Amino acid sequence: MLLPLCLSLLLVATVVRFVWHGRHWRRLGLEGPFGWPLVGNMLNFALARQSYGEVYEWIYRTNPGLKYVGFYRLFNEPALLVRDQDLLRQILVGTNFADCADNVAYVDHRRDVLASHNPFIASGDRWRIFRADLVPLFTPLRVRQMLPHVDSACRLLRDQVSVGCFEAKELSTRYTLQVIASVVFGLDAHCLGGQQKSEQPSRWLEWLAPLFQPNGWSLLETIALLHSPRLGRLIGHRYVPLSLQHWFRELVAARSTSGNNLLQWLAESKRSLAQDELAGQATTLLLEGYETSAMLLAFTLYELAINQDVQGHLHLELDGVGQGHDRDLLGQSALGELRYTEAALLEALRLHPAMQALQKRCTKSFTLPPQKSGCSGQLKVDLGTVLVLPVQAIHLDPELYPEPRQFRPERFFNQAPTGCRFLGFGAGARMCPGMRLGLLQTKAALATLLQDHCVHLADQDQARMEVSPLTFLTASKRGIWLRLERRAHQ
Ligand code: HEM
Repeated sequence: MLLPLCLSLLLVATVVRFVWHGRHWRRLGLEGPFGWPLVGNMLNFALARQSYGEVYEWIYRTNPGLKYVGFYRLFNEPALLVRDQDLLRQILVGTNFADCADNVAYVDHRRDVLASHNPFIASGDRWRIFRADLVPLFTPLRVRQMLPHVDSACRLLRDQVSVGCFEAKELSTRYTLQVIASVVFGLDAHCLGGQQKSEQPSRWLEWLAPLFQPNGWSLLETIALLHSPRLGRLIGHRYVPLSLQHWFRELVAARSTSGNNLLQWLAESKRSLAQDELAGQATTLLLEGYETSAMLLAFTLYELAINQDVQGHLHLELDGVGQGHDRDLLGQSALGELRYTEAALLEALRLHPAMQALQKRCTKSFTLPPQKSGCSGQLKVDLGTVLVLPVQAIHLDPELYPEPRQFRPERFFNQAPTGCRFLGFGAGARMCPGMRLGLLQTKAALATLLQDHCVHLADQDQARMEVSPLTFLTASKRGIWLRLERRAHQ
């Protein structure tokens, strides 16, 4: 008699606790969904049915008129999803930046020594120091000095491509790894052409190409990185696998102490950097440098394949600029003139942002204005609260971009993206420092691939793009299969 009574009481207490917790925001007077035990509002993400960006897009879309939504991340963690452009600006570039400057990215500093030097992962003063080391490497002058590396990789790319079908992400990763190994270390990664049959396959390709691709562990790793350090410990998650950590340290130790490369510039400007710090920064430059750009290149090729009219415009620009430069599109000034090509890259990044959301943590309590215009009552944001800035949802908002799913480079042609409507590279003090290099290498590759070729879908099955629900960086679920044909006229 006593046992059933105790069990019933326990059940009631548990239900009351869950309801209490799931109504956290409602108790504070906010509108938003009820938070379910364990999964919060992210059941579809937990079941690998939707990517985290798609879940946030759904919350953004179903709460029009709110400046921010009180919702629940995995493990029923109360969080705020920011919808309002003024508030986004305030958080990313304005008065509240210092209150939530840290990214949400759980990495164990002892297990992941090299990754913990990555400014994206570091917080507080460590972020400030690591970022300050990297920013001077990406001034316009420095990026111009990287052009010879990009040029050599493009020439290899040109020799490698032939008419026929190819998987765009795989080819793009070969290319960006070739560029980045050369830009960072001055090394030839042997990812493109020139490889003898007898040679070992490139270690760069073998070890780095699969790193951010969906696999059986990806969902757990994404959850560990974005939601749960405890899960990270349980599965022994490492952002940079141990074998890679050893290899990067070896590469840094064996590096040449001269040459035109990022590591050399870094070592010259910061003579006091310890070997581990140098290896940490090299790891950042490598990992941040190839995957996002490869993804952007692959998605741009895909969008051009399904939008032949846009590709026609792009060919006109390549031909026109080529005429003024003896058909050499890889020089500094020719690349600078490829403005429609650059607009196509930005537009592809709008549709397929590498990071589907930016997630910041409140490090100093601050207040937000009322949730709706015309209402009263501010919200005090507590220390530790996660603020989600839903990049994908913002990029697909019809009020910010009419017909948002259409691929229209004109949106960015001769006009740089402004404000927080475009967050493909983030914004403000934490904005991507490698943006110029990312755009340079992808633009040069597009020009190289499309100057004499046009790109089509490999077959009609490829028309529907499915994004993997598993990964932290956006990835296609089934690969991006395209076909190159020689252009009929030039
Ligand atoms: C098209 C290519 C690229 C895209 C789409 C991209 C996108 C991004 C985004 C969205 C962020 C987060 C910004 C934030 O937290 O607010 C970021 C951060 C960062 N990116 Fe990039 N990136 C690209 C290329 C590169 C390259 C080539 C490098 C360097 C080689 C680089 C280095 C970094 C670093 C170090 C951070 C962390 C900055 C910080 O937290 O202070 N990125 N990137």
